Amino acid sequence: MQVTQESEYKKRRDTLANKLFNNSVGVVFSAPHTARSHDTHHPYRQDSNFYYLTGFKEDNACLLFLKTKGEVKTVLFVQKKDELLELWTGERLGKKEAKKRFLIDKVYLIDDFEKRFKELIKGKKNLYFDINSKNIDVKKILKFIKYFKIKEDITKLIQKMRLIKSPSEIELIKESIAITAKAHLRAMRFEKKDKYEYELQAEIEHEFRRNAAYSDAYTSIVACGNSANTLHYIQNDKPLVDGELILIDAGCEHNYYASDITRTIPVSAKFTQPQKELYNIVLDTQLKIIGMIKPNVKRTKLQEEAEKLLTKGMIELGILKGEYKKLIKEKKHKKYYPHGIGHWMGIDVHDPAPYRDAKNREIPLQEGMVLTIEPGIYIDKEDKSVPKRYRGIGIRIEDDILVTKEGCENLSSSIAKTVEEIEALAK
Ligand code: GLY
Ligand code: MN
Ligand code: MN
Repeated sequence: MQVTQESEYKKRRDTLANKLFNNSVGVVFSAPHTARSHDTHHPYRQDSNFYYLTGFKEDNACLLFLKTKGEVKTVLFVQKKDELLELWTGERLGKKEAKKRFLIDKVYLIDDFEKRFKELIKGKKNLYFDINSKNIDVKKILKFIKYFKIKEDITKLIQKMRLIKSPSEIELIKESIAITAKAHLRAMRFEKKDKYEYELQAEIEHEFRRNAAYSDAYTSIVACGNSANTLHYIQNDKPLVDGELILIDAGCEHNYYASDITRTIPVSAKFTQPQKELYNIVLDTQLKIIGMIKPNVKRTKLQEEAEKLLTKGMIELGILKGEYKKLIKEKKHKKYYPHGIGHWMGIDVHDPAPYRDAKNREIPLQEGMVLTIEPGIYIDKEDKSVPKRYRGIGIRIEDDILVTKEGCENLSSSIAKTVEEIEALAK
């Protein structure tokens, strides 16, 4: 199991501190608990930026950067040890152990946050914080906001750092993908006759959980037949119908890193001829786009190329009619391929790292970035403008790709993907 070293978290904090103006305070809060309904809560998950900088999974925590004359001090606020609360919610690290574990200059109790903050900000002119944080302690810093000349969003700086993954992050992503790979293979092998989408979802998520991962990087999509044409279909409550395809977009979160994989497989072992024709257009497109990935290539170029390839394929099958150039210009593919070619992935499934730089120029691919490549074609069952044999079919194929020095590595390449490979695994 990959574990990020404390020295790496410190390095990230140093990198961030370097980006702050002199005479600054930087504040990063832990995530608050979120209620599901009445007095039941979602399982606690740390704020992604806070986790990236500390690896600390407790709530009621806050990280401060204090920069004076180029020198930076870091402060971590933690919850105090409290026997009664620990009886209900489990052990907390406490101040003493936190000081031992983290390479942080000072550790204080969160109960003293306001008092300490007031002292620590003396002489500081600039404040960096998460303007949108839902943590109620943000209110405490808002009281002091008028003392600062410059107020900046600290999340933008951290998210930019998250664009390039470190070797340990790449290992963590690979571990997450390895579990998701097992789950997709299990789904392919599962006997689907007379079963429901949720039963297949349960197979996948059982594989996640028994490997210490969670199914909440995003909600699994298990969409049979025409349901696949609803892009965010998560009801997963319909029967698996013989002769139809199932689009499975499922990826686990493991040790705070996501995976995001889609496979589209037949209910009854074999693809039908029209399914195969559509599938191979999506697959060819996906393989060609992955083949283009290397440093300095732009994501928009991948998007454009995917649109061209899918348009050509759809003309061949008689789904799009007319002249190629005109269809491209009018973006006619949008009816059948309405989404993007992919997104950054990391601690969040849609990692919120920037796509454009401060001057609004597109950021080209660079070594260490991880992105998904996920072309698709979706033909509604009621779409009379399309040959009947393709109606009600929705296909997406999605892999997670690491940009390397020379090109790229498909981190999810072990999961069966060609028609032959999928049919060979099916029951
Ligand atoms: N599973 C969400 C996505 O593919 O972006
Ligand atoms: Mn995706
Ligand atoms: Mn996905």
